[in-house]
Amino acid sequence: MEIFGNDRHKIIHGDALHALSQVPDNSVALIFADPPYNIGKNFNGHKDKWATEEEYLNWCYKWLDLCVQKLSPTGSFYVMTATQFMPFFDIYLRKKLDILSRIVWSYDSSGVQAKKYYGSMYEPILFCVKDKDNYTFNADDILVEAKTGSKRKLIDYRKAVPTVYNSEKVPGNVWEFARVRYRMDEYENHPTQKPIALLERIIRASSNEGDLVLDPFSGTFTTCFVAKELGRNSIGIELQDEYVKIGLRRLHLAKEFKGEILQKEIRTFETEKLETATNLKLFEEPHGKYIHSKH
Ligand SMILES: C[S@@+](CC[C@H](N)C(=O)[O-])C[C@H]1O[C@@H](n2cnc3c(N)ncnc32)[C@H](O)[C@@H]1O
Repeated sequence: MEIFGNDRHKIIHGDALHALSQVPDNSVALIFADPPYNIGKNFNGHKDKWATEEEYLNWCYKWLDLCVQKLSPTGSFYVMTATQFMPFFDIYLRKKLDILSRIVWSYDSSGVQAKKYYGSMYEPILFCVKDKDNYTFNADDILVEAKTGSKRKLIDYRKAVPTVYNSEKVPGNVWEFARVRYRMDEYENHPTQKPIALLERIIRASSNEGDLVLDPFSGTFTTCFVAKELGRNSIGIELQDEYVKIGLRRLHLAKEFKGEILQKEIRTFETEKLETATNLKLFEEPHGKYIHSKH
């Protein structure tokens, strides 16, 4: 296990169970856990597949217990997994925490379109707290448009004084955020990168500036990146070198890793753009104007 970073942002390069056990109990304001889903994704050569579902769940129960232990008394826990495993997480966690919302992250389309069944277009997220009478929820920081008031301009005549409906509201439990695509600025080379917008909502709602946010399966370190942008402190844990490198670069914690300069991978369309730019030569005309010439 190796630790990088500073007083505010730490990257732990190692196994989640081991790394979590080193974190002080009751110390973390917000944990976002997006583990391998046991569906066979390829994490840089490591297959996300356990021998049996029981083995996967037994492994999950271990880190779920640790997360509960590390959460502060007023802390919040958001956890994801595949749709088929979420009922097990729900039953397990509700004995230990209060589950306040069962969120559906819904997206426009999946890569492969199902033809003989209904394609999977959402991922579930549980939102749990340690103490349902005392937890952070910054509702005003995550308001979204309420169409009844903002677009339809309806008036509530049931009130003593007729009042226009609110134009903003706290989001419901179905969240529409586009998945991270290859051509998006935030894209990193990882099979299950979560969108910045998703983590922004979670971190704004369930933590305050200066709070500690922890992600035991950091991947591309979206959680820690957003935590830093929003003035929170962070701990990100990740097993794979390749993804630790992304974290170190995204959080500006190091310029190199094991002698390798950390740079964002150039995508194919960026290479094409570079080639076009170098092929596009500028010629100065005698009267001082520039003309383009494509070679
Ligand atoms: C679903 S991905 C997380 C994606 C992340 N939320 C993001 O936005 O990029 C799960 C990550 O957990 C890592 N991982 C798998 N087993 C681990 C373990 N035992 N300890 C720490 N990280 C692990 C994988 O390498 C993978 O990057």
